Amino acid sequence: MKRPIAYIAGTGYAVPRRAVTNDDLAAQGLETNDAWIRDRTGIGQRYVSAPDETLTVLSTNAARLAMAEAGITASEIDLIVLGTATPDHLLPATAVEVQAALGAGRAMAFDLGAACSGWLYSAQVAEGMIATGMAETVLVIGAEVLSTIVDWTDRNTCVLFGDGAGATIIRHVRTLPRGESRERGILSSYGRSDGNLYDLLWRPAGGVAEPFSDAVYAARRQYVRMEGREVFKHAVRSMADAVDRALDMAKLTPADVDLMIPHQANTRIIEATAKHAGFDMSRVFVNVDRFGNTSAASIPIALADARQQGRVPEGTLVLFAAFGAGFTWGSMVVRF
Ligand code: COA
Repeated sequence: MKRPIAYIAGTGYAVPRRAVTNDDLAAQGLETNDAWIRDRTGIGQRYVSAPDETLTVLSTNAARLAMAEAGITASEIDLIVLGTATPDHLLPATAVEVQAALGAGRAMAFDLGAACSGWLYSAQVAEGMIATGMAETVLVIGAEVLSTIVDWTDRNTCVLFGDGAGATIIRHVRTLPRGESRERGILSSYGRSDGNLYDLLWRPAGGVAEPFSDAVYAARRQYVRMEGREVFKHAVRSMADAVDRALDMAKLTPADVDLMIPHQANTRIIEATAKHAGFDMSRVFVNVDRFGNTSAASIPIALADARQQGRVPEGTLVLFAAFGAGFTWGSMVVRF
């Protein structure tokens, strides 16, 4: 097992004020119902941003909580990496707006695009930058305002997603208080992508290849599209690969893991992943029922939520596994 270089020092999350239940969606005229959505996905509600709840606002609120838990000030942050598919502006990165809002004047800041694997990839970039000595203290955020890019008339997609932000402070182990276990930190990291399948889950228009136009709006191509069944198959396969590889790299078995925190896409994918790895669901954290799929925000929200519930006490061995559009997937084993 490798000796950790970096550890997670603080977590926090923020969601919009308004929760929208499955019944609310049906009441708004969408041809769906609570039983269908719960049975297929496990989702009961999701949060939806108001215009003043931008990606910068949600991210900054989550970051402040993570910084407080880690006991750091904004001036100690060397790097901000923000995983997202829904930046406030296409230029510049939202990470720099978060930097300005926090007053993190010394930091380098950028966004990272890896869809639902966004926080995991960002955490891996943080670990790498810490390893090279470019950074000691990193703010890693996963955040989305997906409600602005889903088609609220498409029941195949709109019921699945939600808004929110999760933040983590990742630091070099040299900042650990004296006497803390040297085993604490990131024990293994694994990531993969497969761009051959990019159009199974994508947002066709709005970029350089297909700019916004009246024809785009008429065909609703500015919104997310998904081949649900195909995505499901690949998600199950990729999550299984992710779980196996991170455990192999850390020379651990599923029995060693105290808690798996998977990407919260839906309970069926999570249950299939748990079954593959031989995890009883009591060792798997699930909160998709309350938040829906918040994409890049899902794992850091789940982590902060699990910590608030007391499910990640000191010494806990956590396995993260993510999967998203691209496709992208990956995993990480972390001792807290
Ligand atoms: N409410 C009611 N009915 C719905 C519905 C909704 N919100 N969405 C779809 N349906 C209908 C379909 O129109 C279809 O009706 P039809 O048979 O009359 O055509 C029927 O339900 C079955 O649709 P299907 O797409 O085959 O359902 P499914 O069992 O594959 O479940 C998903 C759909 C989206 C829940 C499932 O494919 C899935 O979870 N995919 C992965 C999605 C995901 O997690 N994406 C993010 C990855 S990061």
